[in-house]
Amino acid sequence: MLLLIDDANLETIKRIYENYPCDGVTTNPSILKKQGGNPIEVLKAIREFLPGGAQLHAQVVSLTAQKMVDEAHHIIKVLGKDTFIKVPVTSEGIKAIKLLHKENVNITATAIYTSMQAFIAAKAGARYTAPYVNRIDNMGADGVQVAKDIHDMFKVNNLNSDVLAASFKNSQQILNLCKYGIGSVTAAPDVIEGLIKHEATISAVAVFTKDFYSLVGEGNTMENL
Ligand code: G3P
Repeated sequence: MLLLIDDANLETIKRIYENYPCDGVTTNPSILKKQGGNPIEVLKAIREFLPGGAQLHAQVVSLTAQKMVDEAHHIIKVLGKDTFIKVPVTSEGIKAIKLLHKENVNITATAIYTSMQAFIAAKAGARYTAPYVNRIDNMGADGVQVAKDIHDMFKVNNLNSDVLAASFKNSQQILNLCKYGIGSVTAAPDVIEGLIKHEATISAVAVFTKDFYSLVGEGNTMENL
């Protein structure tokens, strides 16, 4: 399962990338608003930092298909052709996905709340589809189940598309998708850090350190014995 960072703050992205096994970065207009500054410059800086092969997903904001296509062309010109263009699954968005797919553009269909939206987007040519797991949960439905249903529908129908599950508030939601073999998830930095956080681990390390120091002296490690 690919793990992406859903954020646009370069310092935070660098910190998470250094500590965790990440595969790229996703952004959306609200994340870019939170970051501030010129969004294209922010995205360029993220692209420059990311290692070769890491994914960068950037969203179009136009509301009509042709304008979305034009905007996608500009994003690709600035950030490179391997950039994933995020397109919302409106009617115009699906039309844009069809047009961009003909040009072999990498497309991530986004703002997905139902499995049928994902199916139509994948059939139109989206490489990834992004169901908003926590937002679906907050609407009284089951976000994890929607992501699993999409995953299954793609397999049964032989569609060349994967789930890129988004919008998480806790580790449990990601664990459930991980166990199911979902293709990829994108999560905010605090949610990624929460994936390994455990008080028992911190306590265990504290005891190991104390015991070792009482054996060989404070500050010593295996390296200087
Ligand atoms: O990529 C979509 C995602 O950012 C939405 O997450 O936390 O705003 O529901 P959230």
